Amino acid sequence: MSISPEVYGPTALVTGASAGLGLEYSKELARKGFSLVLVARRKDRLEALAEECRELGSPRIDVFPLDLTEKASCSFLTNQIMEKKIPLGLLINNAGFGKYEAFFESSLSEQLQLLDLNARVPLELTHRLLPILKSRPRSGVIILSSIVAHLPSPYFANYSATKGWDLLFAEGLYHELRPYRVDVLAVLPGLTTTEFHDVAGIRKDKIPFPFRKAPQVVQTSFRALGKKAAVIDGKRNKIMVFLARFLPRSWVGLLNAKVLKR
Ligand SMILES: NC(=O)c1ccc[n+]([C@@H]2O[C@H](COP(=O)([O-])OP(=O)(O)OC[C@H]3O[C@@H](n4cnc5c(N)ncnc54)[C@H](OP(=O)(O)O)[C@@H]3O)[C@@H](O)[C@H]2O)c1
Repeated sequence: MSISPEVYGPTALVTGASAGLGLEYSKELARKGFSLVLVARRKDRLEALAEECRELGSPRIDVFPLDLTEKASCSFLTNQIMEKKIPLGLLINNAGFGKYEAFFESSLSEQLQLLDLNARVPLELTHRLLPILKSRPRSGVIILSSIVAHLPSPYFANYSATKGWDLLFAEGLYHELRPYRVDVLAVLPGLTTTEFHDVAGIRKDKIPFPFRKAPQVVQTSFRALGKKAAVIDGKRNKIMVFLARFLPRSWVGLLNAKVLKR
């Protein structure tokens, strides 16, 4: 199944569109002729992206500068989509962040915000928007997980747990929604060059592994949608997750503790 406005369109909603993967998903969808609903907090970035996407071929763009962790944001967004009768065929639950720090030293409110953005928001948006998605001849829901969903991650425990949640949520929904022709996909990137590591407080120059590029993750996602429940981006990442399956989970946690030690 190829990604086109005829199959998964005419409109795609991208959360976290102002940077990194969300920005690349939006530009690629614009090139393919999708109309777009762009969501993130930074209004100026969204407006600049909307301009670029219009030039790339997007027929209609709606911009919603919202903090999705505010409790009313998901219902507000859904109501706007219904009021404006936006024909949504693709939902990309991409907004997310991580924090690299000792859990006991971290701010509880920030940890709860992380849990909220990475888990509650995709749940709430998917639940609220499913009636619209199910009404389309075919539709899709992409949820950004991570390879750390398979890897217990000291100093990143809450983040990796939310990504595990994203993976299981998507894998469950994949089978449940197939009869309604709603294709669900969890995308598991590894290290990818975006603003993620700056926000997380990780120095990229200290990481001795190669990074993938955001457009590669987008291509991986679009190739896998409709074919499987979950996809790992990149050969190295696939091999790492495959090898981790043969080790006791406690060993994986221990190894990761050595790699991630602050
Ligand atoms: N990069 C990686 O190595 C990597 C690896 C595995 C998984 N992932 C996952 O990929 C997804 C995208 O991350 P990225 O790498 O593209 O990071 P990024 O460059 O930091 O982008 C994150 C996006 O989320 C938005 N966002 C953050 N907080 C928000 C909030 N409260 N409300 C609305 N939007 C918010 C940001 O926009 P504003 O600041 O303007 O709100 C931004 O557009 C995340 O779910 C992440 O967990 C990334």
